[in-house]
Amino acid sequence: MQDRTYDGRDVVVVTGAGGMGSAIARRLGSGRTLILADASPEQLDRVVDAMSAEGYAVRGVLTDVSDRASVEKLADIASGEGRLTAVVHTAGVAAATASARKIFEVDLLGTVYVIDAFEKVAVRGTSLVCVSSMAGHYASLSREDEAALATAPPEELLGLAAVTAVGDDSTSAYIVAKRANHVRVQAAALAWNQRGARVNTVSPGVISTAMSKAEADSDSNGHMLRMLEECGAGRMGTPGEIADAVAFLAGPQSLYITGTDLLVDGGQAGWIHWHMKRE
Ligand SMILES: NC(=O)c1ccc[n+]([C@@H]2O[C@H](COP(=O)([O-])OP(=O)(O)OC[C@H]3O[C@@H](n4cnc5c(N)ncnc54)[C@H](O)[C@@H]3O)[C@@H](O)[C@H]2O)c1
Repeated sequence: MQDRTYDGRDVVVVTGAGGMGSAIARRLGSGRTLILADASPEQLDRVVDAMSAEGYAVRGVLTDVSDRASVEKLADIASGEGRLTAVVHTAGVAAATASARKIFEVDLLGTVYVIDAFEKVAVRGTSLVCVSSMAGHYASLSREDEAALATAPPEELLGLAAVTAVGDDSTSAYIVAKRANHVRVQAAALAWNQRGARVNTVSPGVISTAMSKAEADSDSNGHMLRMLEECGAGRMGTPGEIADAVAFLAGPQSLYITGTDLLVDGGQAGWIHWHMKRE
């Protein structure tokens, strides 16, 4: 079979050219063909131009992750560029700015499309990391709900009881979507293993990006920042700290780690579970 790699370079794909995506792209992209995907042409152009000027071999591909055909096209383009080393899925929307429907379409369905489309083109050694959220650790779904979210075909997901029960509540939609990312990746690990490839999630706590700024702006009583103080972290995380976790999961020191979640939240979820005082 002909080798499709035309310059011998490894390919890294990053969806979402926002705060985390651009930090991750910079961490993983040196000496590789980097493909950045985002639904916002302005955001994509801005980051691609900046990174090109910094010497990265970067190409932008306008992609809406909530559109299956758009994600499949991205996977095709990426696999045609060379050996797919890492795929990092950061594209997403937040509870503060998106409707429950939009959250399910982008954060839940979009992640399923990425897992499925890139599984078809994964090769030995490909590592997919999907950025979920600490919020997924607050979900209290039944075993049956989790099984359905983990394994139902994409066209059935928005009709599942766990999804329809949420109604218009964006925060609950975000929690369910991010928990769905965890269990979807657990279930997908078998198919990825069979290709010699791996798939994991990273669950950030509050990370200083445009998204957390929008969350903080909508949190008029300062609840989010107070929780960061009370849990002992005392600060937000940086996009670079998420890039470190992703680099570990994408690299050679995690070859036996697949189908799992890495929580990177400064201890906030543990504090919420065991120490937070509830009225
Ligand atoms: N920032 C935080 O505190 C935080 C915490 C936990 C989890 N997360 C998760 O981390 C991921 C990255 O967040 P961020 O902080 O970098 O946000 P960000 O807002 O800086 O970047 C998100 C990017 O996704 C893009 N995007 C949105 N919808 C899209 C779509 N349908 N298709 C393609 N691109 C789309 C946006 O244009 C934007 O560039 C998200 O999944 C988010 O839910 C963020």
